[in-house]
Amino acid sequence: MDQYAVFGFPISHSKSPLIHQQFAEQTGQSLSYKAVEVKPEVFDDAIADFFRVEGKGLNCTVPLKELAFEKVDKLTERAQFSGAVNTIKLMPDGSLLGDNTDGVGLLTDLCENLGLSLAGKRILVLGAGGAARGILGPLLEAKPSVLCLANRTLSKAETMVTLFAPIGSIQASTYEALSGKQFDIIINATSASLTGDLPPLAEGLLVKGGVCYDLAYSQEPTAFVLWGEQQGASLSVDGSGMLAEQAAHAFKLWRGVMPETAIVRASLRS
Ligand code: ATR
Repeated sequence: MDQYAVFGFPISHSKSPLIHQQFAEQTGQSLSYKAVEVKPEVFDDAIADFFRVEGKGLNCTVPLKELAFEKVDKLTERAQFSGAVNTIKLMPDGSLLGDNTDGVGLLTDLCENLGLSLAGKRILVLGAGGAARGILGPLLEAKPSVLCLANRTLSKAETMVTLFAPIGSIQASTYEALSGKQFDIIINATSASLTGDLPPLAEGLLVKGGVCYDLAYSQEPTAFVLWGEQQGASLSVDGSGMLAEQAAHAFKLWRGVMPETAIVRASLRS
């Protein structure tokens, strides 16, 4: 049976095995998918062992996405821009193709599942780390009127501005310099939610009836999702829809068939 896995550290909380098992059942594909704890120092050996045996495809999560980017033989264009790989496919010639499905996963959730249109909207992205880098390309391609990137460390946001200049224009900002501005959609790409923290956001940044989206997800509403509700958002959600969609795009790359995500999204929410 074709073997797939997600490597990461920690990994016990991963929902990916359940998600891919559901996709396999739904599409009538025969495959096995496991979560494997892999620390960065043993990543090279683990990946070699996996593909030497029955391995056909791999997901990589924190803290391995940048290592996976270095390890693969070829990169898709979206992985190239994002500087990180979350999906690896064993190609027929034995080479490893690296892709990044996080950005397309977010866009699918925002536009198809939540029914939003991003064209002409003022979008604010919070954070300028790896998670932000994975989503900036697809966001620019959706043609917002403004794409602003706020970070505590301004220089990191400025680096992203330069990196993504071939795709479109991003405005770098500190949190303080946001005051007085307003946005239609605010996306939290900081790691603050993981520790229950909230970036230093002023009142009034979100237009009344705007949308807040946290890339992080958890059983309880994140601090940012709660902030969005307090700010009068018409929609304030976490990243469970993006999780399902990035998995669906990985599944498509591996198996050539796009699964439906509705059942998985409902079970992640419940
Ligand atoms: P990830 O891969 O999750 O993006 P990362 O590359 O370490 O992780 O980046 C974490 C991001 O979250 C950074 O933009 C960081 O801001 P700094 O670059 O200024 O450090 C941001 N971040 C983390 N905790 C935060 C907090 N409490 N408030 C605001 N930003 C925070």
